[in-house]
Amino acid sequence: MSFEREYQAALALVEGGLRNSFLERMDGPFRELPEAMRYSLLAGGKRVRPVLTLKFCEALCGDMEPALDYACGVEMLHTYSLIHDDLPCMDNDGLRRGKPTCHVKYGEWLALLAGDALQAAAFERLAASRRTDPAANGRACAILAGAAGCGGMCAGQYLDIKWEGRKLGADELDQIDGWKTGALLEAACLLGLTASPAEPAPDQWAAAERYARHLGAAFQIRDDMLDVESTTEELGKPVGSDAENGKNTYAACYGLDKCRELVAELTEQAKQSVRGAFERPDFLCALADSLAKRIN
Ligand code: IPE
Ligand code: IPE
Ligand code: MG
Ligand code: MG
Ligand code: MG
Repeated sequence: MSFEREYQAALALVEGGLRNSFLERMDGPFRELPEAMRYSLLAGGKRVRPVLTLKFCEALCGDMEPALDYACGVEMLHTYSLIHDDLPCMDNDGLRRGKPTCHVKYGEWLALLAGDALQAAAFERLAASRRTDPAANGRACAILAGAAGCGGMCAGQYLDIKWEGRKLGADELDQIDGWKTGALLEAACLLGLTASPAEPAPDQWAAAERYARHLGAAFQIRDDMLDVESTTEELGKPVGSDAENGKNTYAACYGLDKCRELVAELTEQAKQSVRGAFERPDFLCALADSLAKRIN
């Protein structure tokens, strides 16, 4: 199967797994809350993290299905992070996934709650999965919590804002991006291995971690580049937002040519990490290549 068709098949599984989320809450007096959650969750997006979860599971056991709840959970957590990232007190952006951001559509306090509730729903989805056993679900929750909290994404978001306007060294920039973006991408990969009924060998676990770290670094550099060189229509979010906020991005610190080099290098390292560790690394390698060239 071609990479594109394989991606579409994984995407269809994810969309099917998310489609009915929170519908059972929609007839209560607080129906606007699940409505706002669904507004952001079902607005599209590349679904990179859940696809990684499904595909790492498949790389180990030949089947994506055991990882579907973990995949949906990680996308819920990611969507919460985007809703909060766009708030006026953070990046103050008005467009996301081609639509008005959650707070523009529903107001700030409701967007804040929609993010909070999506985060809770993410852990509920992992903990209650019947595709995997309770011990695996517990390990999955610990992985996601570690990546999302003050030793991961929230720490990265803290530094991203705290250090706005300050000149940073390369290590500091790597630190921000490893936490704010890399940690969740890494968790997505490890959740796939955790869902697999076949145990990963220690070198496979380490290979997934290495792949995710390189892929995550390349992913954020590409994101920073697109904020400079893309258009709002193509990107579905406002270009120029980083410069406006005085963000320390790779594009601002290194320039676009150096960014292109870094993305190519990191992508090669990501691919090297999984070659030899998994029987069929082809999709994971093609995914790294496609993310390096992505235009949104
Ligand atoms: C955007 O993530 C936030 C970053 C970590 C750079 P994505 O580029 O994966 O956004 P969606 O999910 O496709 O909208
Ligand atoms: C945000 O990074 C990463 C998150 C944890 C959400 P950005 O602020 O660069 O993401 P975009 O560009 O708004 O998607
Ligand atoms: Mg941000
Ligand atoms: Mg932002
Ligand atoms: Mg960005």
